[in-house]
Amino acid sequence: MHISARRMPMAETALAKRVAAADPVLAVDALHVAYGPIKALRGCSLAVAAGETVAVVGANGAGKTTMLRAISNLLPHQSGAIRFRGASSAGTAPHELARGGLLHIPEGRGTIGRLTVAENLRVAYDIRPSTTPFDAAVERVFQRFPRIRERYEQRAGSLSGGEQQMLALARAVVNPPRLLLVEQNVRRALAFAHRGYVLRQGEIVMEGAGGDLLSEPDMLRHYLGST
Ligand SMILES: Nc1ncnc2c1ncn2[C@@H]1O[C@H](COP(=O)(O)OP(=O)(O)OP(=O)(O)O)[C@@H](O)[C@H]1O
Ligand SMILES: [Mg+2]
Repeated sequence: MHISARRMPMAETALAKRVAAADPVLAVDALHVAYGPIKALRGCSLAVAAGETVAVVGANGAGKTTMLRAISNLLPHQSGAIRFRGASSAGTAPHELARGGLLHIPEGRGTIGRLTVAENLRVAYDIRPSTTPFDAAVERVFQRFPRIRERYEQRAGSLSGGEQQMLALARAVVNPPRLLLVEQNVRRALAFAHRGYVLRQGEIVMEGAGGDLLSEPDMLRHYLGST
C-alpha cells in the first residue's frame, strides 16, 4: 500500500525524524489494534509529511490493511493516537474524514458497479467542495487515464479489472484529497515512495528511503515472504 499527501514537495532524502518534527499531515503514534485475541498491530508509529509518498509494506497478514482501516476509523484501536492535519481523528466517522480530505481506496474496489464511469466520477467529485468545476476536473482525469474517456458512459461493473483499478484511482484524484491511502504492488510502491516502512507481524521493523529499502539485502525475502 502507499500513502501519499499532496502539497509542499520534500527532498527524497528526508528522514522520518524530520517528518515527525515537521507538522505531518498524518501522524500515527504507538497504535495497537486487536481482533479479539489477535494482536494485529502492536505499537506502530509512522508519519507522512505534506507532499510525501510513503509506502507501508509487509508480508501477508503483517497488518497493512488493519493499519489503513484503523487510520480511516473503519476499525477501532485499543491504544495509541492518530492525528490527521494536526488534530486527533478520534471519534470522527470515516465519511467525515473523507470529507476532510483523507481518502482510502481499498484494494481492488472503490467503484460502484451499477453506475456508469461518469456517474462514479461525479459521486466521488461531490464528496467535498472543490475549486475546480466538474468538467475541468474530469478533463484532467482524462489526461492521466485516456481509457477512462473511452469508457465514460460504460457501467463500471462491466470494466476489466485493470480498468476498474484505473477508475478507482480516477475517483480518488478527480477532486484531489489531502491524503490518499492506497493498497497496491510492493516493489512499485517502494520504488515510487520517498520513504517506506516495513511491517512484520504487527510491528514496524524497518524504515528508510523507499529505494534504500528495496536494495536492502534480503529485505524482500525476510520481511515480505516474497521475491
Ligand atoms: N476481521 C478479522 N478478525 C480476526 N483477525 C483478523 C481480521 N482481519 C484481519 N485479521 C488478522 O490480522 C492480521 C493482519 O491482517 P491484515 O489484513 O491487516 O494483513 P495485511 O498485511 O493486509 O495482509 P495481506 O497482504 O494478506 O492483505 C492477520 O493475522 C489477519 O488474520
Ligand atoms: Mg491486506
